[in-house]
Amino acid sequence: MANPSLLILAGDGIGPEVMAEVKKIIGWMGAKRSVTFDVTEDLVGGCAYDKHGVPLHDDTMAKAQEVDAVLLGAVGGPQYDNLDFSVKPERGLLRLRKEMDLFSNLRPAQCFDALADFSSLKKDVVAGLDIVIVRELTSGVYFGEPRGIFVEGNERVGINTQRYTESEIARVARSAFELARKRANKVCSMEKANVMESGILWREVVQEIHDKEYPDVALSHMYADNGAMQLVRWPKQFDVIVTDNLFGDVLSDCAAMLTGSLGMLPSASLGAPMANGRPKALYEPVHGSAPDIAGTGKANPIACILSFAMALRYSFDMGEDAARIEKAVEKVLADGLRTADLMGPDGGTPITTTQMGDAIIAALDASL
Ligand code: IPM
Ligand code: MG
Repeated sequence: MANPSLLILAGDGIGPEVMAEVKKIIGWMGAKRSVTFDVTEDLVGGCAYDKHGVPLHDDTMAKAQEVDAVLLGAVGGPQYDNLDFSVKPERGLLRLRKEMDLFSNLRPAQCFDALADFSSLKKDVVAGLDIVIVRELTSGVYFGEPRGIFVEGNERVGINTQRYTESEIARVARSAFELARKRANKVCSMEKANVMESGILWREVVQEIHDKEYPDVALSHMYADNGAMQLVRWPKQFDVIVTDNLFGDVLSDCAAMLTGSLGMLPSASLGAPMANGRPKALYEPVHGSAPDIAGTGKANPIACILSFAMALRYSFDMGEDAARIEKAVEKVLADGLRTADLMGPDGGTPITTTQMGDAIIAALDASL
């Protein structure tokens, strides 16, 4: 059988630095677990714009459609802030999501015991937290038409459209229910059915799919503003949260902060199964390109490494090795190793991005 294939798009800012640590782990998988990946690398975001004048070249898009999984670092930087909207680095990422039809975005928010003190919330509120936000990723107000800035009378008007079809809601609901069945079997769906028609339809369709196909899963509904409040009040009441593209963007940042460090959180964006049975998939850390610390060795590679672990689990059916990587991360944190983002107010000596990667490799070796 052909080797599993990966397209690495390290991107901008700290993207290449954190991805370098993932490449070490890919190498480790080959050397110690006899799993060899066919790896191709290419550009996305600002670096692609610098070379090609677009944030994602058509050839790169074509490669992304062919591989078993895409690993992405981060995109963006202040030097691109004034570019035309159509070629901003983020558009490269949005094009990948849309054209690969990655409708289900899994954003786990898990609090590592060793880091519970880093949360802005009290320790007992977050210790042991383990929830997943399933964010719809290819529709809603991010892509709805009409959109644009128009002139009406003597002033400009900015327009975006929230639009969801039944089938778009149904497929992301199914992915949330499937995920819940492998976890604590609870789904909370969030929308604004009190003010938005798209929210009314969202609630109805999620309920219908539940009643027909997943009656064994405990389902609740919440207005998204209340959901934000509940996330901060008592996040452990949730297991899987399913929500639309924009609410998911906001709620997942909120959930991420609960865990103490954005630098720790991975994500998976999944689409329909390909001919080989694997889902179309892209894996990326939740954090951005952090241009302020790029090149300083301060970046935390853990989110990117855990994203690779998600790739092993969801694309390659290698749950055991995924768990091995997650355990190795827990081990180095429990040993007190910290990158700069995980330094408390009373200081300590942070280790560098590379040292963190090496420590995780050492913990992986010790696990064999
Ligand atoms: C995210 C980011 C993106 C989004 C940006 C970079 C386009 O905030 O993945 O959460 O808004 O979806
Ligand atoms: Mg976001």
